[in-house]
Amino acid sequence: MTSPASIPDSRVVIFDTTLRDGEQSPGATMTHAEKLEIASMLDEMGVDIIEAGFPIASDGDFAAVSEIAKAAQSATICGLARANLRDIDRCWEAVKHARSPRIHTFIGTSPLHRAIPNLTKDEMAERIHETVTHARNLCDNVQWSPMDATRTEWDYLARVVEIAIKAGASTINIPDTVGYTAPNESAALIRRLIAEVPGAEDVIFATHCHNDLGMATANSLAAVEGGARQIECTINGLGERAGNTALEEVVMALKVRHDIMPFTTGIDATKLMAISRRVSAVSGFTVQPNKAIVGKNAFAHESGIHQDGMLKNAETFEIMRPEDVGLTETSLVMGKHSGRAALRSKLAELGYEVEGNQLADVFVRFKALADRKKEIYDDDLIALMQDEERQAEDRIKVEKLRVVCGTGGQAEAELTLMIDGNAQSSEANGDGPVDAAFNAVKALIDHEARLQLYQVSAVTEGTDAQATVTVRMEEDGRIVSGQSADTDTVVASVRAYVNALNRLLVRREKAGTDAREISYKDVG
Ligand code: KIV
Ligand code: ZN
Repeated sequence: MTSPASIPDSRVVIFDTTLRDGEQSPGATMTHAEKLEIASMLDEMGVDIIEAGFPIASDGDFAAVSEIAKAAQSATICGLARANLRDIDRCWEAVKHARSPRIHTFIGTSPLHRAIPNLTKDEMAERIHETVTHARNLCDNVQWSPMDATRTEWDYLARVVEIAIKAGASTINIPDTVGYTAPNESAALIRRLIAEVPGAEDVIFATHCHNDLGMATANSLAAVEGGARQIECTINGLGERAGNTALEEVVMALKVRHDIMPFTTGIDATKLMAISRRVSAVSGFTVQPNKAIVGKNAFAHESGIHQDGMLKNAETFEIMRPEDVGLTETSLVMGKHSGRAALRSKLAELGYEVEGNQLADVFVRFKALADRKKEIYDDDLIALMQDEERQAEDRIKVEKLRVVCGTGGQAEAELTLMIDGNAQSSEANGDGPVDAAFNAVKALIDHEARLQLYQVSAVTEGTDAQATVTVRMEEDGRIVSGQSADTDTVVASVRAYVNALNRLLVRREKAGTDAREISYKDVG
């Protein structure tokens, strides 16, 4: 296949959609500041295109895409728009500030998706022509996607791809929206489109795979073998249902198996671990320990044979080195005698620039942790900083918690919360310490939110390790998550619960303008 002149044949463009498709996962909503921070990390890491959001979805999305567009140094900034002129205009208003803007417009083309707006094949073809032409009149970089492409009839898919190319799209994305395809089929589809659709040689084909059958990364790489030159992906594979192709997986697969997949990306892989941790922290989606590349166990060796082999030659059981993805040795860093300057420089090494009052606050929390935990590792400091950031803007904070639990009766909790600066206390019982403490929170903050997820994981090893607790809650279709870490699991649980409630308050306030639940079905 010949690539369009703008990219060399061997280069694969990385299109990150963590802030759009990733943020669509229920509960993964990020704040404005968090989105800007993640976008800047993506830009610095060498992502070619950042899909920063869906500008028509809410004022918040519009503001985030606009700000990201203004701030981007080298990445192209893209916004999503359905197949109607209003969406496309709004998208352009947000992305136009970027040095390199892109409009991404889409419509569902499979029989199931065509049925929803109740358009005939001809009517939909006309809509595609009209909307891509409109986008192209605003912006000279237009991407078009036939949603559910892998379940669209071949003839119709070929027809609409040709229409979009003729109307001026320079990237044609082929989404496997429901994670239905398999590697051979994924490669064959792209190969056939390139071979048979007139004008295909002048555009870049993109692959956008979901992970419902666990094949997203394999399908994306197969599509590249078939001629695709843009991979759409998210950090940690974040995304609806089973998620999307994981950026870190495709980048490292192309590096490690360059012998059989001779393609390069512009990504600085040593930044992968840092961004993975950050996305996990702000989205509230913890990375499973056995996740490829960025999971906690990805470079851990448990069995004696493996450990012995590793000591003799790391290559016996490692196909890449931890430092290739930015994982430095987990080191014993600090203890209770460490001073403020040492803490500041260690935090700077971990990517946190902390000065003045913030340093003083963090130092107090660090000392409190060091009193309870003998050995403080990098991961402990990262958890502490994440907690600090998460709670900085919270209106409700946990001031005091005492829990009595054990055999022979219900657990009892006494709690004091600071609510907008005022101390308020409650007492409650429950089935176990977490239940009692949560009931005490509920006695002070009335809500109907349903607990969807309560998850505890250890930050480091040992019985004095900090526990990270993730709580996900749902109220009226709004899903929020909260997180906190502490050596006391019950304290971490209550802080995570309260953190989620704070986010719920923000969502309630925004409810008037936030149309995040906007329907993709509404293409009109
Ligand atoms: O999965 C999908 O089809 C999408 C489209 C909006 C491109 O995310
Ligand atoms: Zn998608």
